[in-house]
Amino acid sequence: MPALVLLGAQWGDEGKGKATDLLGGSVDYVVRYQGGNNAGHTVVVGDQKYALHLLPSGILSPGCTPVIGNGVVVDPSVLFSELNGLNERGIDTSRLLISGNAHIITPYNVTVDKVTERFLGKRKIGTTGRGIGPTYADKINRVGIRVQDLYDESILTQKVEAALDGKNQLLTKVFNRRAIETEQIVEELLTYAERLRPYVADTVLLLNKALDDDKVVLFEGGQGTLLDIDHGTYPFVTSSNPTAGGACTGSGVGPTKISKVIGILKAYTTRVGAGPFPTELLDEDGEALRRIGHERGVTTGRDRRCGWFDAPIARYATRVNGLTDFFLTKLDVLTGWDEIPVCVAYEIDGKRVEELPYSQTDFHHAKPIYETLPGWSEDITKAKTFADLPKNAQGYVKALEEMSGAPISAIGVGPGRDETIEINSFI
Ligand code: GDP
Ligand code: IMO
Ligand code: MG
Repeated sequence: MPALVLLGAQWGDEGKGKATDLLGGSVDYVVRYQGGNNAGHTVVVGDQKYALHLLPSGILSPGCTPVIGNGVVVDPSVLFSELNGLNERGIDTSRLLISGNAHIITPYNVTVDKVTERFLGKRKIGTTGRGIGPTYADKINRVGIRVQDLYDESILTQKVEAALDGKNQLLTKVFNRRAIETEQIVEELLTYAERLRPYVADTVLLLNKALDDDKVVLFEGGQGTLLDIDHGTYPFVTSSNPTAGGACTGSGVGPTKISKVIGILKAYTTRVGAGPFPTELLDEDGEALRRIGHERGVTTGRDRRCGWFDAPIARYATRVNGLTDFFLTKLDVLTGWDEIPVCVAYEIDGKRVEELPYSQTDFHHAKPIYETLPGWSEDITKAKTFADLPKNAQGYVKALEEMSGAPISAIGVGPGRDETIEINSFI
């Protein structure tokens, strides 16, 4: 059985953590391939709730090996506090593996993220302030620090010096901050080395061998398709590739090994941070979606912007990821509306446009064209099969499937592992 990718089809927070955890019991490896602790993935097991930021959601399944791939950016202090938190709750984290090629989020990258946002003022992206963008920028500028650098003090010192050279100019001359000392950073980074050592591995070799041995590997995306640096609503995006191609570059597993790409799709739309959002609701309905759906950020605690389902976005996600399936989440949140509007196309400059426009200006001006579907009022959280759903809920799912371009193979009707309707099996 080859590899599967599970990723966000919208702007993140679609319920990737729950979906990954659900599959975690049947897979051998769960691999994060991009992003860092900007992610906030919630997993609910029985009466226990876990918020994971950097660790793959497979960490909660005893038979599964969690892997942090080369494409991830790692803040060691966050990693350790997350590991400690799970250990205190009796979770064994010793199976974790981390690529030696993963880049490290250094304290100066966190500083640069925060001061840049402050400097941008009204034009800010609304980042999570976790140092994600500056760390990926260092990687691309070839002044990044990798996990393996922690094991060669002389190389580490040279690299930190190179990274700080330009940054200190910027910090002191543009941002009016104090310069950061190389020695202080090196000293801090070296304190992480020994605790990290048992986890560091050649994850590329290991994952490819596992696939050769018919093991099942699940790639867990962070963020979502429209936050992708290439395919998202640039510049209001994150600095990595959550889309399916990122699973290959971020892990060293080739595309021929991937058999399924599952898009996690919320039954409505949410977004955190700045940027265009055609179906955003600034009225009572938006407030109700936020309240009923508990739409508050797991990482930053910010209220999520909420709006109706946007079919051109789902079609776009199908296209750029080559989706084979959707996992529709949070259908239960829509219970109680008499009618549910769904955006089927946009009006841009007086013209009907069926697909996501490639022009940023057009997307900023896009007005949703809605079709209204009949709602339902019955409690659906106990539904176990598609047939258990009320007729109108079935109709809503079928309509979304038709508009979105890939089969809906599972439906979330609550946050718990068992609050899921499985239609087609993923594995
Ligand atoms: P992620 O970042 O994609 O993992 O998603 P988040 O964890 O940030 O946000 C999703 C939220 O929805 C979490 O609080 C989940 O527990 C919750 N959730 C996931 N699936 C469902 C569902 O089908 N119904 C309901 N009501 N909540 C869900
Ligand atoms: P999960 O994995 C929702 C958003 C931020 C900001 C933009 C850039 O839980 O779905 P960054 O700190 O990455 O440079 O911020 O991306 N963002 C997310 N929004 N869910 C996430 O992760 C996100 N990670 C980043 O709000 O708009
Ligand atoms: Mg989240």
